Amino acid sequence: MQVSKGKFITLEGVDGAGKSTHLGWLIEHLRARGHVVVQTREPGGTPLGEKLRELLLHEAMHLETEALLMFAARREHLEQVIKPAISRGDWVVCDRFTDASFAYQGGGRGLSVEKLGQLETWVQGDLQPDLTLLFDLPIDIAAQRMAGAERQLDRFEQEKTDFHERVRAAYLARAAEMPGRVRIIDSRQTLEQIQKQLEQILSSD
Ligand code: TYD
Repeated sequence: MQVSKGKFITLEGVDGAGKSTHLGWLIEHLRARGHVVVQTREPGGTPLGEKLRELLLHEAMHLETEALLMFAARREHLEQVIKPAISRGDWVVCDRFTDASFAYQGGGRGLSVEKLGQLETWVQGDLQPDLTLLFDLPIDIAAQRMAGAERQLDRFEQEKTDFHERVRAAYLARAAEMPGRVRIIDSRQTLEQIQKQLEQILSSD
């Protein structure tokens, strides 16, 4: 792995798949290897993006409004945070990105892939993450893990099982389309097994 060149890594997965658990470990691992790491998230990552996140997670809205706001926040995020960091040679680790729009607004809500593709091209041109880690888990197990959470659930987490099944299927479809970029992590594995897999992926990247 070259230390001098910045990389853009995104983490994805259905709610409850354990993405947040692995995020901290991943960042520490990359820092220990000498990289300067910028940790960020979507929706959010900028002051304006965090305001949009509040609305997106808690206010009811039309599905196209939801998609447009996701991409509006993303436009700001790319300009203010992601692109400058990559140009500096930093590594960007982003908790969710455009694959989440294809999964949630596309698979979950039913917005067409054509419309999502237009927004993707408009907002990011041909910029794609260098690597996407997709934490995959059957929905019944993900739901059990979520049930243990003490906090209040957001608009997406409150959705029913079939919504989450469609989100999962859309993520897997996107991974199948772009196997070079998207690596699937079976989140039924133990923490140690997953960390070993992540190490292997990162050292071969
Ligand atoms: P999430 O990473 O789950 O936040 P937290 O771990 O703090 O709960 O992200 C919030 C939600 O936003 C998640 O349920 C998926 C949704 N989302 C979309 O629907 N579309 C998108 O494009 C993005 C980036 C996120």
